[in-house]
Amino acid sequence: MTAPAVSPEIHHRIDLPGVRELLAPRDPLWTPRELRDLTATVAADYATRLRDVVRFASPQRWWTRLALTDEVELWLLSWLPGQGTAPHDHGGAAGSFTVLLGELSESYRYPAGPIRHHTHDVGASIGFGQGRAHQVRNLGAVQAASVHAYSPPLVPTREYVSLRDVPDEIPSLPAQRVAL
Ligand SMILES: [Fe+2]
Repeated sequence: MTAPAVSPEIHHRIDLPGVRELLAPRDPLWTPRELRDLTATVAADYATRLRDVVRFASPQRWWTRLALTDEVELWLLSWLPGQGTAPHDHGGAAGSFTVLLGELSESYRYPAGPIRHHTHDVGASIGFGQGRAHQVRNLGAVQAASVHAYSPPLVPTREYVSLRDVPDEIPSLPAQRVAL
């Protein structure tokens, strides 16, 4: 087994050899399918630890970063009933999420395409490329939580009033490298 060339930052509750192996460097970036597999594996294999870590807060949603490497970032987010995001894109990053608890409703749109809706049940995973914008909400009656990954990391999101406002081509935003 080869150790990763760089030292990723990993949340102490999941700083385990298996997680470090999952986050080994990729060249150059993670694909939507790889991101989906990552969040699905982390949510399935470390569910008990993540349920211990997750908190719920209002009015601001709660989240914590689970990992950051040169190629990918991994987050744990929680959603009380009624909480959700604004419509947004990911600034040119690819992404994924897996539902850890509850269920999440997603409205999404590919460039110039129709607005579609889907409910993701617990255990469901999706990966998406840079051309997709979405709005994620907990429209259910119980608490929800989800594991998210983005590559490249640290790219800001861009919010819209409505998914109808998403341009046909989503411009890439620069990653925001910050001193940690
Ligand atoms: Fe998003």
